[in-house]
Parts: sequence; C-alpha cells; structure tokens
Amino acid sequence: MSSYPAVRLRRTRASGWSRRLHAENTLTPADLIWPLFVTEGQGMEEPIKSLPGVSRWSVDGIVARGREARDLGIPCVALFPNTPAHLRSDDGREALDPDNLMCRAVRALKDAVPEVGVLTDVALDPYTSHGHDGLVDAAGYVVNDTTADVLIGQALVQAEAGADIVAPSDMMDGRIGLIRAALEQGGHHNVQIMSYAAKYASAFYGPFRDAVGSRGLLKGDKKTYQMDSANAEEALREVALDLAEGADTIMVKPGLPYLDIVRAVKTRFEVPVFAYQVSGEYAMIEASAAVGAGDRDALVLETLMAFKRAGCSGVLTYYAAHAARLLSA
Ligand code: PBG
Repeated sequence: MSSYPAVRLRRTRASGWSRRLHAENTLTPADLIWPLFVTEGQGMEEPIKSLPGVSRWSVDGIVARGREARDLGIPCVALFPNTPAHLRSDDGREALDPDNLMCRAVRALKDAVPEVGVLTDVALDPYTSHGHDGLVDAAGYVVNDTTADVLIGQALVQAEAGADIVAPSDMMDGRIGLIRAALEQGGHHNVQIMSYAAKYASAFYGPFRDAVGSRGLLKGDKKTYQMDSANAEEALREVALDLAEGADTIMVKPGLPYLDIVRAVKTRFEVPVFAYQVSGEYAMIEASAAVGAGDRDALVLETLMAFKRAGCSGVLTYYAAHAARLLSA
C-alpha cells in the first residue's frame, strides 16, 4: 500500500462551495467607512491627481455620496475638508467656526441621510497655514496643551453640527480625556470617540495632503507627534491611555504595513479596532493596476480581507463604494 498524508488540507479547498463554507472571516459592506473630501461651491467635483478615481465634492455632492453609501450598505462616511486658502491661519481658527465647510457638510448629511453615520477628523492640518495638526511655537514645535484646548473646541462644533463619531488624528497627549469631558459637559453623551491612537509618521499620507491642500504648506515633518515606524510597544501604551481616557474605539494608521499593530491591540485589549487604508496604500494599488502588475479588484478585496483577518472591526478605505459594489455583485 502506498503511503498517503494523514491530513489533506487541500480537501476543504477543492471546490468553491467548500471554500465558502470554511472561510474563517467575512468581508461585507458593513465593514467599511468611506472617507470623503469636501470642497466649497455647488455642483463641484475636483479630481485629485495623486488619488486617481477620488474627487473632492461640494456639499451637495457629499450628500449624494451619503445616499450612495446608504444604498450600498456602507454604515459610515468620514469627512475631510479642503479649506479655502484665505481661511487658513497660523492658529487654524477656522476649525472652530460652527459654519465652516466641515460643519455644513455634516449638517447637510445628517439632514438628508440620518441613517448613515458621520465621522469627523479632529486635527488642525486642513485649517493651518503651516500644515501641522496643531499650534506651532517660534521654534516650529507643535505645542501639546494649547493645541489640545483648540481640539476640544473643534470636537464640540463638530458634535453640535451632528457628528456621530469624532476621530482625533492629531496625536497630542491627553486630548481624548479632555474631549470626552467636554462632550459629556456639552450633553453629547452618545457621540463616540474613535481615537487614532496608533498613528505613525508615514510616507503613505502624500496623496491625502494633496487632497486637503496641506502638502505644499507643510513645514518640516510630523515626527514630534506621530509615532516612529520602529515602535510597537509604544502603540500599546498609546492605546491603553486612550482607552483609559474614554475612547470608544481605536484606530491604527496606516493600515496594511501596520497589521501587526492591529493584531497586537486586538489581542491585548479586546476592543473594537479599526484601520485606515490610507491614501498612499490606495495609490499603490492604483499604480499596480495601471501597469498591469496586479488586478485592481482582486487587490482591493484581498487587502480588505487582510484587515478583517488581523482583527479589524472595520476599515476606512477610499475603495469603500467600489468594494461594496464588488461584494454585492
Ligand atoms: C491629519 C490626517 C492625515 C490623514 C488623515 N488625517 C494626514 C497626516 O497626518 O498628515 C491621512 C489619511 C490618508 O493618507 O489617507 N490629521
């Protein structure tokens, strides 16, 4: 008798029905958050060169995307404003105007499609003339505590406009506790905080900075506040602090190059973890597809499933609508 393997793992892979039956993870439109860029005007669509296929939309177009999200089963959209140049300043005070572009977009979305969640970014970079996420001192250092004071005000105007989730992406120390306290005092008990707890100083953010118009403005880099890509233990400390301060959910960013961090956070803390498939990751897939190195749709679905496998509850991705269409086809 010829010898044979006692276990044949290929047996359950041999047909499509069996592969479906044995899938350990699932990917559905409900796993996706769709980031959208907002611009001034009416009837405006501005394509972003370094993000082929992604545009900035004026508020009416944002509302149309909100309806599209609802129809595709995408539970939540994330908003980022491209603030007109004349409204950017050293102190980013435009972030505190209850009628700024961001707040108008939030209100319009919540009026038109209240069943779709709206996530807003808390950080000053779309509003500052120097492109940093906070206030800068004479030496060019982003100062922590005075920045946090401004972020509190920013989160409050967003919550008052109707934001369902505020997502501080600034990496200042202590801001989650301050924002939570301000939201509670303001009566916004059910406004969630998704903390960008482990956000790395990354070369993958380039196209995003084009999209919000901060790339050309940015002086220096963000390494004094965003994390060093060499570090993982430090990410766990960031997450522990943000959870203790009242964060509801945790975000890791960028995504694919940091899935080890996602898994470590999930295993250690057993809380909902999200990851951001950032602009440079999107651009990488587009570049790959453009030269015929890979199949776009397959790359999109494989990368998104990788986030789920690593432990993500959901993924922020510019592919959200595209992926949702692929998944419901
Ligand atoms: C800044 C912010 C950035 C992104 C989201 N919020 C860029 C940065 O930190 O410079 C990047 C998202 C992306 O690249 O898609 N507050």
